[in-house]
Amino acid sequence: MKTIITGTGIGIPKNLVRNEALTQIMDTTAEWIVQRSGVEQRYYADEGEGSAELGMIAAQSALAAANKTTADIDALIFATMTPNFYFPGNGPVVQSKMGFAESMPTFDIRQQCSGFLYGLDLADSLIQSGKYARVLLIGGDVHTPLMPWRKGWDITIGKRDEPITPEEYEFNTRYRDRTVLFGDGAGAVVIERSDNGDRGFIASRLFTNGSNMEALYMKSGTSQRPWIRPDQIESGDTIPYMEGRQVFKEAVSKMPEAVRTVCAAAGVKVEDIDRLLIHQANLRIVEAITKQLALPPEKVPHNIERYGNTTAGTLPILFHECLADGRIEPGMLVCFTALGSGLHWGAALYRV
Ligand code: ACO
Repeated sequence: MKTIITGTGIGIPKNLVRNEALTQIMDTTAEWIVQRSGVEQRYYADEGEGSAELGMIAAQSALAAANKTTADIDALIFATMTPNFYFPGNGPVVQSKMGFAESMPTFDIRQQCSGFLYGLDLADSLIQSGKYARVLLIGGDVHTPLMPWRKGWDITIGKRDEPITPEEYEFNTRYRDRTVLFGDGAGAVVIERSDNGDRGFIASRLFTNGSNMEALYMKSGTSQRPWIRPDQIESGDTIPYMEGRQVFKEAVSKMPEAVRTVCAAAGVKVEDIDRLLIHQANLRIVEAITKQLALPPEKVPHNIERYGNTTAGTLPILFHECLADGRIEPGMLVCFTALGSGLHWGAALYRV
């Protein structure tokens, strides 16, 4: 018995934001962003459009592609670090708004950039246990509300053309290393039990190292009272904190290691991988891993230039696009790998 993906879909907001738009609200250049990260543009959600809404758009098209309705799904997994509400997670929001069965269980997981990878492992385990036959997995994030801006949101999406104050410009510039990297977006996959032994999940290996947690995290939370203080909003402590260089180093060592480990576990060689889908955090990370694993670049597709880092959304969006344009074909061996805040990382092998 195997676990196979039978449908994919994506949910991308309509507001296209090119690098040039960001130069209006902080001290940055389009060239810096492209050279250091590969990002050329990203999409921003509208106010009122959270990760649940983008996830639902992705889920609708994944269900249609799998020729299924909400009534066919036994469980939902939603991977996001930016749920619509602090609690509950997006699972119940999506369940009720999309009209899934009233008592269908939903799982909310938050492994940040590794969320989709962890969700794949969880979905496979739930199906292999015999508990559920069909699981809908959604991964996606809406980062824009975490940005430090005041008027910046509307300026970047062209809704306002007045200049920002020098104070806001200076404040925004403090966070330029992070804000230029991220975009909003979601992807979804329908995962099902199958008796066709040729296709499906082969192996996965997941890892966490909490001792590196402070390399990338959000400082506000329930260990303080109240969980967000007004002075933290002023000082920028509600904006994700990131040691960029440290995370970069971890990414280019841990992801190749995870790929080698999962290949060894499955008894395949790294060169047998037909397509390596790497979490889209930085094009330089993708290129460094491609080199380390001695894979030809055509085996390692990327789309960070068009979407930026959509956190739990990058892998399902890339997988969907590669299936749609033929870069991934039936029979191919696909390896997914990701690393992000936690630190969580890992790799999974899948035969299409
Ligand atoms: N525009 C212009 N200049 C900038 C910008 C910007 N947007 N951002 C930083 N700079 C400047 C810095 O101030 C610094 O200037 P200085 O030399 O005068 O001090 C210079 O550029 C170099 O800065 P670095 O931080 O050293 O640049 P680096 O090449 O390391 O790139 C980056 C930064 C893109 C953040 C990179 O470190 C990176 O991608 N790290 C990994 C990110 C990642 O993978 N995150 C994990 C996923 S996210 C998640 O899990 C939620």
